[in-house]
Amino acid sequence: MTLQKLKHQFQHNPNIEFLYSADELIQITVKSVFSTAIIHLQGAHVSLFQPNNQPNVLWLSPTVIYKKATSIRGGIPICWPWFGPHSSDSSKPAHGFARVSQFDVDKISECPNGEIEVQLKLESNKKTKALWPVNFVLLVKITIGKSLTVSLMSQVDEDQPVKLTEAIHSYFAVNDIKNTTLKNLENTEYFDAIAQQTHVQTSNNLTFTKETDRIYKNPNDQLLICSNNKNLVALEQQGANSTVVWNPWSEKVKSMVDFPNNAYQNMLCVEAANTGLETFITKKQQHVISQKITPV
Ligand code: BG6
Repeated sequence: MTLQKLKHQFQHNPNIEFLYSADELIQITVKSVFSTAIIHLQGAHVSLFQPNNQPNVLWLSPTVIYKKATSIRGGIPICWPWFGPHSSDSSKPAHGFARVSQFDVDKISECPNGEIEVQLKLESNKKTKALWPVNFVLLVKITIGKSLTVSLMSQVDEDQPVKLTEAIHSYFAVNDIKNTTLKNLENTEYFDAIAQQTHVQTSNNLTFTKETDRIYKNPNDQLLICSNNKNLVALEQQGANSTVVWNPWSEKVKSMVDFPNNAYQNMLCVEAANTGLETFITKKQQHVISQKITPV
């Protein structure tokens, strides 16, 4: 879909605007009654969710790169059809190919309650099959209202069940990571990807003092991000067997080109995910994972 065609197709909708981000990527600016969102067709990537008269709830790197085939640092990348490094071939892109693939606009609808739903679509093609030999349709539905909800709907057309790992890799803006708490994780088992160890978290609250990269197994579906003891964002996940929590901290960021050295202080990733071996999808079944983000 070209920018011109999209502009033409949606010319009568005053709440939708199509333009280029940095001359390379097509973005949609969506204004609902309650909030504004920016969505890039590359990766079905939300880079801004701004409730009226409030700042962006999502963190976006001050040195973000908008370039074809390059993942946008910040906002909400989609990790699909695998999360993290590929399980057997390290030459394949980390976190799968969806985040750097070009999606089509499937539909945009305005709901009677003032929310706007944008649905984007990626279908298997020659390029995706070279990386993952599966016939699939991936729909990403983004609902913009008082909350932002991102849902990934996966369908495959294969005779054998297909293994899938995935994440809705949301970056949240926080004032100071050292005064940030993630709540409701009491008694949850997690894999610490840095120490390569499994533990059970005893405390209800997770605080941050160093590089953090954890996969919480079957966590509470409702989590809360707090900043300076004030509730900031409520998170609700569905269809996810894990929550990933990540902050690269001061050393790791030095190796990342699109991440200023001290920017780790202002972000926290809390990702609704399906990790591990458990998720298999079969022909004609639609598998859905979603994360609902509500500023409080
Ligand atoms: C997180 C992973 O989900 O994403 C981390 O748990 C990883 O291990 C991080 O470093 C960022 O990944 P990328 O590929 O976007 O730099």
